[in-house]
Amino acid sequence: MAQKKKALITGITGQDGSYMADFLLAKGYEVHGLVRRSSSFNTGRIDHLYGGTVQETKDFFMHYGDLTDTNSLIHIIDKCRPDEVYHFGAQSHVRISFDIPESTAQITGVSTLKLLEALRIVSPKTKFYQASSSEMFGKAREIPQKETTPFYPRSPYGIAKVFAYWTAVNYREAYGMFACNGILFNHESPRRGENFVTRKITTGIAKILAGKQKKIYLGNLDAKRDWGYAPEYMDAAWRMLQQPEPDDYVIATGETHTVREFVEEAFRVAGIADWKNYIEVDPRYYRPAEVDVLIGDATKAKQKLGWEPKVKFKELAEIMVKADCKKQGIELKS
Ligand code: NAP
Ligand code: GDD
Repeated sequence: MAQKKKALITGITGQDGSYMADFLLAKGYEVHGLVRRSSSFNTGRIDHLYGGTVQETKDFFMHYGDLTDTNSLIHIIDKCRPDEVYHFGAQSHVRISFDIPESTAQITGVSTLKLLEALRIVSPKTKFYQASSSEMFGKAREIPQKETTPFYPRSPYGIAKVFAYWTAVNYREAYGMFACNGILFNHESPRRGENFVTRKITTGIAKILAGKQKKIYLGNLDAKRDWGYAPEYMDAAWRMLQQPEPDDYVIATGETHTVREFVEEAFRVAGIADWKNYIEVDPRYYRPAEVDVLIGDATKAKQKLGWEPKVKFKELAEIMVKADCKKQGIELKS
């Protein structure tokens, strides 16, 4: 019988890592996850794999570690000897990266170097996925953005991701390692962190309907993003590591919408016409430097990976609003 493939996922307790765990377990992988110590449970997104606080099974293993702790990374890689590493762990909030730029640089940027260096020493044949970001395009030099578009990051987060991107390219070119950058545009889901704008809006609407919240306070309503559906983007990330050669790919829907349009669509799904009564603009949520417009061109991914997004803007808003309403005990009709 063929040996199961082994994957190590950093950021397994986050949105993407948890969907990737679902995806790989369904494909028959043995999945290892790096979990950092937290004073309260941080495993809510993977608890469903067991129906409770996570315990290991024969295919699923959790390891305490931290992206700032190089020794923990070396020990975990040595212990599980993965065929593939999916590096999703990061301080991933752009606004907050202005408050904690130094730790963001370490966790989001330098961790890629630590992992690749650990792999180079311990397990150089392991394939490596770097969670790169459309935030690297920042003040975009070209519309739409593709693999060859120059970077112009606008936040400590974006700068850290540019460092990580080039580190992955460098380890590929210098040491022949199989390292890929997935340059993913915004992708959302019911598992999205509640302080990212789409989820803040959909949880807010559900709580308004449940009578638990009166208003949603937002920042820049004019920013435009290319929003896709997170589980589909994990399929794209996996496909990158199944190619004969490592490469970098943009993953996006090719549509862009303002935050205001997301608000309108989400309130429409919830059956509330007068959304302006529930939204207040609070300058606290503005960013010192904003990324105004992002829109991706995923032609290369379509041609080389056979990947295309199915869920687009309206369906995404509907999935998220319905899921958050359901959590509040409210069933919305289609
Ligand atoms: P997320 O939900 O914020 O998850 C981040 C993960 O990183 C969590 O599991 C978190 O652990 C973990 N983490 C943070 N600091 C850590 C540390 N010091 N040591 C170990 N683990 C640590 O992010 P996401 O939306 O799933 O995104 C996944 C990756 O893709 C990130 O690298 C993000 O920057 C990148 N990305 C995301 C998007 C997007 O639209 N979602 C687009 C492009 C790129 P806790 O659960 O304990 O906090
Ligand atoms: N978070 C947040 N909260 N954003 C707001 C708010 C608010 O109250 N009001 C308006 N916005 C605007 C932000 O200014 C930004 O222009 C846009 O909504 C999207 O913000 P986020 O949802 O926080 O996402 P992001 O685009 O900054 O970053 C996400 O996508 C990147 C890929 O482009 C994160 O997931 C990053 O980790 C990821 O790399």
